[in-house]
Amino acid sequence: MTTLLSFNAVTVAYGEAVALSGASLTVDGGEFVTVIGPNGAGKTTLLNAAMGVLPAREGTITFDGQALRHEPPERRVAMGMVIVPERRELFGRLSVEDNLRLGAFTPRARSGNSGGLDRVYDLFPVLAERRRQAAGTLSGGEQQMVALGRALMAQPRILMLDEPSIGLAPRIVQQILAAIATLKASGLTAILVEQNAHLALGIADRAYVLEAGEIVLSGTASALRDDPRVTEVYLGGGNRYAETDPSDD
Ligand SMILES: Nc1ncnc2c1ncn2[C@@H]1O[C@H](COP(=O)(O)OP(=O)(O)O)[C@@H](O)[C@H]1O
Ligand SMILES: [Mg+2]
Repeated sequence: MTTLLSFNAVTVAYGEAVALSGASLTVDGGEFVTVIGPNGAGKTTLLNAAMGVLPAREGTITFDGQALRHEPPERRVAMGMVIVPERRELFGRLSVEDNLRLGAFTPRARSGNSGGLDRVYDLFPVLAERRRQAAGTLSGGEQQMVALGRALMAQPRILMLDEPSIGLAPRIVQQILAAIATLKASGLTAILVEQNAHLALGIADRAYVLEAGEIVLSGTASALRDDPRVTEVYLGGGNRYAETDPSDD
């Protein structure tokens, strides 16, 4: 396997506040990697640094062997780095289908996109039923499906998922997870950042634990599932981070 994405001692700060500190990680082609950690650990910051939304103050980020420095986010998307953002960022007044089509604006996506919509509708049949409906009128779970579908329309070489389970009812999380598992089985390369360690370690090949901006543990997902340092804090009796908030579906 060749390394597709790598962080080498990357530090990111908001002014004086360091949010990611000397973080190193790799994602190989075909691998499904997760970064777990509590709220505020720096997970979104890490993905935003990968996308070029935030600059790395120190360290280097490489994609497919190329060091990324000043490439703007749209250039990174064109290279095949595609994010499903935490806030989904749909165009609420546009239809489901128009939101999906907006994912396919890059030359890469346009060239390889025959069947793109069909592939998304196969994955999420409910979106086919609602293709003409304004995205803003969908449930939270359906909006997450559109956000994921739009990212797939861009033909990602690496898909970056920012807490796709957040705020969704367990039944909906299971649907999203099943779709992600299907993508994984088809060989998709992905990095998933998640507070829900139980969910993330259940699907990933390999995992990193991020706490207060630092990677404190890493290993295969199965090794971390059995590691007392993980089970006590993230999977333990108190289950602080293992449950989803069923506030919205
Ligand atoms: N725009 C911002 N300005 C200042 N501090 C921020 C900003 N965004 C995030 N932070 C801080 O950076 C840290 C990491 O945040 P974030 O990456 O959003 O964590 P996570 O996604 O793991 O919840 C937190 O302490 C957060 O308060
Ligand atoms: Mg976040």
